[in-house]
Amino acid sequence: MEIVLAPYLAYKEEDGKELANTLSNGIQYLNNSTTFDDFDRMQYLVKYALPLQQQLGVFIKKLGLELNTTLYLNYNASNVFSPDFLKSFDSIPPQKRKELALIGKALFFDSKLSGNGLVSCSSCHQSENYFADGKIVSASLDKTQPLRRNTPSLHYSSYQQSQFWDGRAKTMTAQIKDVLFNPLEMGGHQSAILKYVMGNVKYSAILASLFPDTHNNDEDMNHIALALSAYVTTLNPMNSAFDQYMAGDKKAMTATQVKGFNLFMGKAQCGSCHFLPYFNSLVPPFYDRSEVEVLGTPKTDNLTHPEVDDDMGRFDLYKIRYYKQAFKTPTVRNTEKTGPYMHNGAFSSLESVIDFYNKGGANGLGLATPDQTLASKPLNLTKPEIAAIIQFINSLTDKN
Ligand code: HEC
Ligand code: HEC
Repeated sequence: MEIVLAPYLAYKEEDGKELANTLSNGIQYLNNSTTFDDFDRMQYLVKYALPLQQQLGVFIKKLGLELNTTLYLNYNASNVFSPDFLKSFDSIPPQKRKELALIGKALFFDSKLSGNGLVSCSSCHQSENYFADGKIVSASLDKTQPLRRNTPSLHYSSYQQSQFWDGRAKTMTAQIKDVLFNPLEMGGHQSAILKYVMGNVKYSAILASLFPDTHNNDEDMNHIALALSAYVTTLNPMNSAFDQYMAGDKKAMTATQVKGFNLFMGKAQCGSCHFLPYFNSLVPPFYDRSEVEVLGTPKTDNLTHPEVDDDMGRFDLYKIRYYKQAFKTPTVRNTEKTGPYMHNGAFSSLESVIDFYNKGGANGLGLATPDQTLASKPLNLTKPEIAAIIQFINSLTDKN
């Protein structure tokens, strides 16, 4: 950064003074750090990295050099933890978003969209349970069989470039249509849904005013999915203790939680897959792609006699060897409240999840997972360190 910025800083010396200072202090801090494990990531983040990003943004604007070459980054946000850091990933026109989300909210709680009139999105994504359901897996629509996978929370789900545990839906609207029409989930039919929604003035009047030029059923159906998606996109509170700390409130987190953050980003390696700022699969620095990873999550949390899970994840979609047991990295924001964990709901506590990581995932347990992307070397986390990581994860719980 120092090399790239040098000519600009020389050209506008006065305007770049603060930025140059922060940059050189940050470099000094890095140079003075001793070991990988001892590096105080939190201190570096709040004292140097975040101010640097903010000051750089201001400097770029002063010089009129906003290139806008990246699709999702918002130049006007001060840093990665600002609520408006990324532009939304959908195509909803800004002036329609609010009204669309309001209909979406009503539809989300409306069981008339389902085939049997009994199930709504909120049957599984329960607002009082952080939009998860607290179950290992939910039951199918007719209650005769378990669904294949655990219900994920919808908080921050709009900050993903693909949806579902295996990333099979590229957009939220594709994902929503899949669920609406899936006979095991909502068992809805396009014709019945359209008849109900378009026949209900509460919905149809607003949809007609937002989209006056709609002439066919597929377009109407798209708008319904778009409305649901607009609502899900509002579910990103960013008001946890951690977020308050990032916004400058030094009292918002305890010393143990800060230690837990440093372990999460350092020795425990969690941050190498659970990327900032949403602690999920969204890959920096362009945020244009969501990643899948292979941990080899076993069938149950019995790690003494582990059994291979038969869900092959993304491999079911693309028969490529390294997709065997590949799943999208979920967020750990609000995970305090969204157990049981993993695609199969196999882990009942955060302790057992971290125990699994600490032992080196499937390979560390002696299971054959040749393409495991998680390091198989044990992490050697101590009990107090594991407790600190959990305390940190708890600092990511939003006020519901
Ligand atoms: C019967 C329970 C059930 C109902 C009803 C349901 N979902 Fe889901 N939802 C799930 C499960 C289970 C998954 C994960 C499935 C998978 O990955 O294969 C999921 C995944 C999702 C995802 C992807 C999240 C992510 O992180 O990948 C979104 C978004 C979502 N649902 C929204 C909705 C909306 C909107 C509705 C209503 C139209 C709805 N769901 C109805 C159970 C349900
Ligand atoms: C190699 C990438 C990778 C690393 C490193 C990693 N995770 Fe994960 N994490 C994942 C993936 C992928 C899943 C989903 C696995 C599945 O469903 O089988 C996951 C799931 C989780 C879940 C469950 C969330 C839920 O909603 O079900 C928690 C909690 C979690 N990880 C915490 C951590 C912690 C703590 C660390 C560090 C000790 C860590 N992760 C390290 C990729 C990773």
